[in-house]
Amino acid sequence: MAIENIYGPEDGVFIQNHPLIQHKITMLRDKNTGTNEFRKLIEEIAMLMGFEALWDLPLEDVEVETPIETCKSPVIAGKKLAIVPILRAGLGMVSGITALTPTAKIGHIGLYRDEVTHEPHEYYCKLPSPIELRTIIVLDPMLATGGSASDAIRMIKEHGGVHIKFLCIIAAPEGIKRLHEDHPDVQIYVGHLDRELNENAYICPGLGDAGDRIFGTK
Ligand code: PRP
Ligand code: URA
Repeated sequence: MAIENIYGPEDGVFIQNHPLIQHKITMLRDKNTGTNEFRKLIEEIAMLMGFEALWDLPLEDVEVETPIETCKSPVIAGKKLAIVPILRAGLGMVSGITALTPTAKIGHIGLYRDEVTHEPHEYYCKLPSPIELRTIIVLDPMLATGGSASDAIRMIKEHGGVHIKFLCIIAAPEGIKRLHEDHPDVQIYVGHLDRELNENAYICPGLGDAGDRIFGTK
């Protein structure tokens, strides 16, 4: 059965089919899209996805004086947000989210996939402390086997993180299944669900290597 018929919002899996996101993902996929445009698109898509994903931020009423009268009106409660990009490619999404939440703290998790085994290897972890009470937004444009996202979230939980959302621009069905099975408490936001992984664990049709396309490396 197709993965979108297995997992849905009731499982914390949100496939964001907004037309603006779909349009921009098509431009991202194009192999002729250059580094500069690619970066801008990643940032814009992250902002659109973040707008949707932060729908449940807590609010509190403050008193405000309008030119007419004084009233109570809501603002975001506290400054309890942490953004955690998975290096490298997740870095490209950070500015899109901080445009929405400028006071968020930013942590970093460094992971790279072994080219042969496709297993993630950890090389860096620095997270805001304390992290327990924060809503944590983990960013990575690609959810392929799900190994990197699952490891990153395990590391965040080991540091005390509890309220975790994962945002990816393109996911393979295998990645959603793995991440949801490993961390059923984590909300997963996906820009587009692609068909499958190929023999190199690349997403098809995908967009190629996200890190290389953001940073202009090969
Ligand atoms: C890519 C991507 C994810 C990971 C996804 O990073 O940005 O982190 O692969 O694959 P997975 O779901 O199978 O774990 P990569 O390891 O290529 O590192 P990079 O961002 O430094 O290029
Ligand atoms: N990492 C990428 O950057 N792209 C893929 O398709 C899979 C993993």
